[in-house]
This record gives sequence, C-alpha cells and structure tokens, in this order.
Amino acid sequence: MNVQALKETAKALVKDGKGLLAMDESNPTCERRFAALDIPRTAEARHAYRALIVTTPTLNEYINGAILYDETLRQFTQDGVPFTQFLIEAGVMPGIKVDMGTTALAGHPGEKITEGLDGLRDRLQTYAKLGARFAKWRAVITPGAGIPSHGCIQANAHALARYAALCQEARLVPIIEPEVLMDGDQTLQQCAAVTEQVLRTVFEQLHIQRVLLEGMLLKPNMVLPGLACTTPATVAEVSEATVSCLLRTVPAAVPGIVFLSGGQTAKLASARLNEMNATFKSRLPWPLAFSFARAVQQPALEIWKGESSHVHAAQQALLHRLRCNHAACRGEYDPSMEGLSP
Ligand code: 13P
Repeated sequence: MNVQALKETAKALVKDGKGLLAMDESNPTCERRFAALDIPRTAEARHAYRALIVTTPTLNEYINGAILYDETLRQFTQDGVPFTQFLIEAGVMPGIKVDMGTTALAGHPGEKITEGLDGLRDRLQTYAKLGARFAKWRAVITPGAGIPSHGCIQANAHALARYAALCQEARLVPIIEPEVLMDGDQTLQQCAAVTEQVLRTVFEQLHIQRVLLEGMLLKPNMVLPGLACTTPATVAEVSEATVSCLLRTVPAAVPGIVFLSGGQTAKLASARLNEMNATFKSRLPWPLAFSFARAVQQPALEIWKGESSHVHAAQQALLHRLRCNHAACRGEYDPSMEGLSP
C-alpha cells in the first residue's frame, strides 16, 4: 500500500468544492434507462451516450473524477482516444465500478448482498493498468418490516471492507457506498436509525480489515423518508438528519463524503446538498460533495434520446446540473439557477 499516494488521490477527488460524476451503470441498468425513453438498447447507443458524457467540454470545472463501468473504461472516442486518456487530459480522474451487482442474500428474504470479491485482486490490477485511479463498490440495504437484519448489514459491511483493503493494496482509492434504499414507507427517523447503524458497522469492519481511512471516500445515501412515506420532510429536516447521522458515525480522518442521489429529483438533490453545506459547513470535518448518477444525467438523457443532433443540448444540460451541484458543494446553489437551464 502506498499510503501517501492514496491520501493524495483521495484528497484530490474532493478538492476545490467539486464532486464526482457516476456514469458506471451496468449494461442492464443502462438499458433500463434507455428503454424508458425509447432509446435503442444496443452497444452502439451505449457507446454514443458514454462518448457524449466523456467529451463534454469543461467537465473539470465541476468534477474531479468520473466513475466508469468495465465496458466504458475500455472504450475510445470517435477520434480513437481512450476514454480514460481523454478524461485525464481534461483534468478528470477516471474511476471504475468493481462490484458485480447484487443478489439475494441466502437465509434473508427480501435482502441483498453485493458480489464481486472473487478474482477482484486480479481485476484491480487490470483496471489500474487501464488508467483507473479509484474504485467503487455499492452495497444495498433495504429498509422494511423487520429488515434490515443484523446478518445483512454485517455481510455487506464485511464485503465493503474486504473490497476496500484490496483496492488500497492495488493503489486504488476505494469509494465505499452503503446505500439505504429510498423505496418503502419508512419515516425520516427510521431511515436515520438504519443509516446510522449501517455506517457504524461499516466503519467497524473497515477498522478490522485495516483500511486506511485517509485513503478512502464514503458514498452514503442522504437520510430521507421513503418514497411511500406519507410524512414529508423539508429540505432543512433532511439536511439536519443527514448531517447528524454523519457526524455521529464518520471519523474525521475520512477525506470526503460524496452522496449518491438514489432516485431523488435532480433539483431536490442539489437543494439538499446545498442546505447541508450552507448551514453546517463550519462544523464539518470533511467536505460534503456529490457522486450522483441519475440526478446529473437524467435531464441530459431525456434531451439526447439517442439523436446525434441533440448531443450539444444534452451536454449543456449535463453541465447545468454539474454547475448546480458544484454550487451546492459551496452552499451557493439557489433555485433561481434553474431558470438558466437549457
Ligand atoms: P444515483 O445517484 O443514481 O443513486 O447513482 C449513484 C451510484 O453511483 C449508484 O451506485
């Protein structure tokens, strides 16, 4: 493990109030998003869409890194430049999703475990050679009646810690993503309790597996009421609950926290991130930034719709969301910025 290099990379991923762009949807997830907009579910369409994102000018004004998928990490622009090289030259560090997705956790109805540890050491070497500087692994925790179970939280936290240790051995900064899903009717308070328990367990496992906290990033969910909950929460309540939970569970040695968006609307995700930074920044030991997929990509995808003539407008929509979220990292987002959207 090269401690200094890991620390520097982790810091560089959250520097200057910038975040990360998650564009690491697996092929099935990407095709689901395409199908909803009648975009052809083909390898060509996936390539065209990923090229649109990678070649968007001035990405580096708003993000420090982009998380790619295995297929994407190996692809080239139309001019024959590897996506990784194009990003590096544009000032954006390439990263890679390395988990192999979720499957049912045996003995735990309704709960999931993330797979991908087998052979991971070799895959990480390959990814590092292809230019990746950091990695991501997503664990999924489902709130519901009687769940999440102790067994599910422990198993997922253990897998995250094993993954993180392997990444650091390979000089890749691990992004640790334990996602408490928004599906369900849980209240804000219930989500807070589950998220707190999950994060406590994750950091305990990271300690047991000797993961260098200074050489990793945390990618948590915001603390939110479930989509089917009938008691709404204000932006201020979400911000307060999220920050309280993080302050109780995330060691100050962690260089940064980058939220997932989890199915929130693009504007709400920006408003909630902004509120946390505007209200609490001076009390926080770590920068709070973003690593959104849907909340930055969705408006661009809806404009692009698979049409090459829409590429420029889609790139402008992508930049707009990144600009809003960059402002939110500094507590300077204002809903009036939305009026400027393309
Ligand atoms: P969303 O922002 O769409 O939740 O995606 C983040 C992510 O990287 C999921 O693994």
